[in-house]
Amino acid sequence: MDKCKQNECEILEVSLKTLIIGSGGREHALFQAVSEGGGNAYFLPERKSLPTAGVAPSALLKDWSALSDWLKKEKIRLVIIGPEQPLVEGLGDFLKKQGFFVFGPSASAARLEGSKLFAKEFMKAQNIPTAPFQVVHSLSETLKASENFSPPYVLKADGLAGGKGVFVCQTVKELEDKAKSLFEDKILGSAGEVALLEEFQKGVEVSVFILTNGEDYCILPMAQDYKRLGEKNTGPNTGGMGATAPLSLPEKLMEDIENSIIKPSVQGLKKNHYGYCGVLYIGLMVGQKGPRVLEYNVRFGDPEAQVLLPLLDGSWCEVFYQVSQGKLPSLNWKNIHSACVVLAAGGYPGNPLKGEIIKGFIYHKTPHSYFLHAGVGQNEEGQWIVNGGRVLNSVAVGQTAEQALKRAYEQMAKISWEGLHYRKDIGSAGKSSFHF
Ligand code: AMP
Ligand code: GLY
Repeated sequence: MDKCKQNECEILEVSLKTLIIGSGGREHALFQAVSEGGGNAYFLPERKSLPTAGVAPSALLKDWSALSDWLKKEKIRLVIIGPEQPLVEGLGDFLKKQGFFVFGPSASAARLEGSKLFAKEFMKAQNIPTAPFQVVHSLSETLKASENFSPPYVLKADGLAGGKGVFVCQTVKELEDKAKSLFEDKILGSAGEVALLEEFQKGVEVSVFILTNGEDYCILPMAQDYKRLGEKNTGPNTGGMGATAPLSLPEKLMEDIENSIIKPSVQGLKKNHYGYCGVLYIGLMVGQKGPRVLEYNVRFGDPEAQVLLPLLDGSWCEVFYQVSQGKLPSLNWKNIHSACVVLAAGGYPGNPLKGEIIKGFIYHKTPHSYFLHAGVGQNEEGQWIVNGGRVLNSVAVGQTAEQALKRAYEQMAKISWEGLHYRKDIGSAGKSSFHF
C-alpha cells in the first residue's frame, strides 16, 4: 500500500498562476493539465504554435535573477521545471530561496539523474537491485573491463547527455568504437569523461513514477515507453517514440517493486535530507531475476507524462501546488487508458531534418484525441514547420488500451511531412507477460 491515504492532506482551493519551464511535448502536456485543473499556466520558453497570452520572455531561461523579478511582477508563485538540465544546474534551489513554490528537486538530489555513478552509489547504499557495473575512464580501461562482462555490452556516459549517453553494443568491436567516441573524440564533452560499463539486463521495461516530498510517496499508474526508433525495439535509442498507461502488472510484482525499489529509494532521499519535492521517475527492467533499476530521472518522462497526466481524476494544479510545499495529496485515477504516438522528423535521433512544412491541421482534435506540440516552428510565410527531433505527439484516451491506441493512430493520420517517422507498434509491449 502506498502512503497517500495515511498522509492525506486537505486540498486547498487554488487558482494559481504557474510557470512551466521546458519546450517539449511533456511541457505542453503539463500546461494542458494545469490549465484544465483550474490553473493559469505560462510557458518558458515561448512556443510559436501555442497560446501567446501566457509566455515568459525566452531570455529569462539564462538569467535567473531576471526570471525571479518577472515571476514577482506577474505574481506567479508556482514553477514546474520540466527537464532535468535546469534542475541539475540548481534552478529549483534558486527559485525556492526567492520564495517561490517549485515542483522539482534540489541540485543535490538531481544528481540521481545528473550522474549515473552517483545514482549507482545511492542504489548500493540502499541495497536497491540494479545491474552490476564497473567505472571506466578510457578506451583501454573499457576494453579491459569488458573481459568481466559478456555481450551485449552497455556503456553509459556518467553525465547528462539528453538521451544520447547509453550505448548497447553487440560486439567488442562496437564497444571499442563507442568507447573511442566517448573518451577520445569526446562526442559528449565532459558528460562522457567518466562512464559505466554495465551488465546487459534482459526483460521488459517499465516506467515507474512517484510523487514524493522526500519522506513519503504516492505511486502513479505504471507506464511504458518505447525507447528505440524502430518497430520491435530495433534501431538506436531515442528520447521515446510513444507510451501507454496504465500498465497492468501482477500484484506480486507490484509489491516487489514497491518493497525492494520504491521504499528504499525514498528512504535514501530521507536519509540524505534531500528535501525532494517533485516527481521521481524510476526506469526498470523487469526480467527473470525480478525488477532492476536502469536509471533514475528527477522529472516526468517524455512521452510518459503525456499518457499519465490525463488519467488523474482531480486537479493537477492542486497536486503540483501541494507537492511543491512538501505535502502529498490523495490521488484518484480515472478508469481509462491513454496512448501517445510520437511523430518525429526524418533523420531523428541523429540528425533531424528541420524546415519541412507540416501538412495538416496541428490543432486538430476530437473529444478523445489531440496533438501536443514539441518541435514545431514557423517559417517566414507563417507555415508550421518541423523544428526539432520529436515534432508532435498524438495523444488519445479510451475505455481500453486498444481503443486509446486506435484513436491515437487515427489522430496521427491527420498530419504528415516529408520524412515523418513514427512507430506503428506502440502498445504492443503491453501484451508482454511479466510472469517469468
Ligand atoms: P537509460 O538512459 O539508463 O534509461 O538508458 C536508456 C535505455 O538503454 C534504457 O531505456 C534501456 O532501453 C537501455 N538500457 C540501459 N541500461 C541497460 C541495461 N543495463 N541493460 C539493457 N538495456 C539497458
Ligand atoms: N521517456 C524517457 C525519458 O523521459 O527519459
